[in-house]
Amino acid sequence: MTDPALAPLFPAAAVVVVARPEMWEAPLHPEEAVSVARAVEHRRREFAAGRACAREALTALEIPPQPLLVGPDRAPVWPPGVVGSLTHCEGFCAAVVAPAETAAGLGLDAEPAQPLPEEVLETVLTDSEQQFVDTQPLPATAPTGADWARLVFSAKESVYKCQSSCVGLSLDFHDVELEIDPQAEVFQAVLRVDVPAAWPQVRRLTGRYRWLPQHVVTGVVLPSGSPAPGRSERTS
Ligand SMILES: CC(C)(COP(=O)(O)OP(=O)(O)OC[C@H]1O[C@@H](n2cnc3c(N)ncnc32)[C@H](O)[C@@H]1OP(=O)(O)O)[C@@H](O)C(=O)NCCC(=O)NCCS
Repeated sequence: MTDPALAPLFPAAAVVVVARPEMWEAPLHPEEAVSVARAVEHRRREFAAGRACAREALTALEIPPQPLLVGPDRAPVWPPGVVGSLTHCEGFCAAVVAPAETAAGLGLDAEPAQPLPEEVLETVLTDSEQQFVDTQPLPATAPTGADWARLVFSAKESVYKCQSSCVGLSLDFHDVELEIDPQAEVFQAVLRVDVPAAWPQVRRLTGRYRWLPQHVVTGVVLPSGSPAPGRSERTS
């Protein structure tokens, strides 16, 4: 059920569904349809594909069918007890969900295997990331047209998504510094901003990525926090 190529980006309890062609035409629940009633065709298709992926993934978690509404921050309003994330880009759409005991948040992002436009490099990349992009050869597994800068962009979008609904940080690209391990296909994301005292784990996040034939996909997990001292554990 879970997508075998993308499952390793997330904990074992997560379910990842990648859209099949018919899912871009999937019917929407009337309460979902309101969100794209006035949208252009392209937007309606990607929204439908995302909802169809999410529905299938939620079914695998045995969550009863229900509309997946859009929250005030534009993130999906996941059913109680579930965390998740959606992504879509040209020719690709996927959703990941997991029981809320698994993580405080998940971030999933896909980008086309095309170079990041020259004019946005400075906005997206820190100096050390630019140096990495300039010097690190792409692996043989990367699809034609891929570049490291596009992967960095995707990773930062995943970082943003995994914390947005629970921690709620507003992040610029330079607030996040990535260290990529190309051998392990893993990255560390260090946040260069003040973080709420309740969320120390958001300071340094681990993410994973996969090169697909025409896309790069990144996933980031925001770990659940430790219980507050005195609430459910003894400190002595
Ligand atoms: C929300 C955002 C991350 C989406 O990323 P994207 O690459 O443009 O688009 P994707 O297709 O991958 O993701 C879109 C989906 O993300 C989800 N999403 C939207 N807002 C979200 C939020 N605040 N938090 C989590 N998920 C969100 C939605 O499911 C959306 O699909 P839907 O509208 O069909 O339901 C991006 O548009 C954004 O607002 N970024 C702001 C901050 C930023 O980029 N900072 C720099 C990086 S640190």
